[in-house]
Amino acid sequence: MRTVHTVKELRQAVRSARTNGNTIGFVPTMGNLHAGHISLIERARQHCDFVVASVFVNPLQFDDASDLQRYPRTLPDDQAKLEAAQCDLLFAPSVDEMYPNGQPQLSTVHVPAVSEGLCGGSRPGHFDGVATVVTKLFNQVQPDQAFFGQKDWQQVAVIRKMVADLDMPLEIVAVPTARAADGLALSSRNGYLNDSERQRAPVLYQTLQHMAQQLQNNQPLTAVIDSGKQHLQDAGLRLDYLEIKRQHDLKQAGANDRDIIILAAVFLGPARLIDNLPLSLNRAFE
Ligand code: PAJ
Repeated sequence: MRTVHTVKELRQAVRSARTNGNTIGFVPTMGNLHAGHISLIERARQHCDFVVASVFVNPLQFDDASDLQRYPRTLPDDQAKLEAAQCDLLFAPSVDEMYPNGQPQLSTVHVPAVSEGLCGGSRPGHFDGVATVVTKLFNQVQPDQAFFGQKDWQQVAVIRKMVADLDMPLEIVAVPTARAADGLALSSRNGYLNDSERQRAPVLYQTLQHMAQQLQNNQPLTAVIDSGKQHLQDAGLRLDYLEIKRQHDLKQAGANDRDIIILAAVFLGPARLIDNLPLSLNRAFE
């Protein structure tokens, strides 16, 4: 695998791959790679001839300066993992390479509606930062397909809407969440947890599973949410949000919606953890 740090080298490498008739798959990341990221590379490997990954900790999408500062940067380790997963090309730009004129006067991309509420509500400006950097990366790489994790369901919904609204010429592929054996969704932020917090963390996904069961048993929506919140609080997790939405546009789930999704964000010690569980009800709920 080759690593490049400039847009110019990236464009040259992708151009020569394309000239050879290869389709291009792209996996954007912020590095500190784990098995969840690697599952995206593997999926890209299955779909496309030439696989490009990026590692860039994007300052634009961090609403909290200390979160940005402590975000783990582990490039040599990431390179070894990508190499083992048979990634062809890694793009690892500096902040100056991505934002040569600084950030204050930058043109940005805003995706309305679907970016509001949930993580967009708790992290103002976050999805503008994501949509802007992903637009830049798409223009730099020009992939046929790009791969995103369902763990960040709202992010996938924002990117899909952006691609549709702005006629971006690529296909978005969403990949299921990779989990630890105890159910905890893999995340770079899990590394912030101490042993006792790590032991408590699986209660997040267990709560979502329990709620899904209650919904399948036709229990009322508000009661299911209330008991889920109680469950998380009793386990010592501080709630950011716990909501039930429609899968495709993240609008409030109504009586006729069967393809719904439970989404949650909690604080546990120094970490903010998110997870979700999509489900299809056998029948519409009340
Ligand atoms: P990052 O958090 O590094 O995640 C990169 C990709 O890996 C995202 O598509 C994310 O959903 C996916 N991912 C993370 N954990 C996963 C898991 N347990 N299972 C499956 N996929 C998982 O998301 C970002 O970076 C950034 O916002 C980015 C899109 C790169 C823009 O800066």
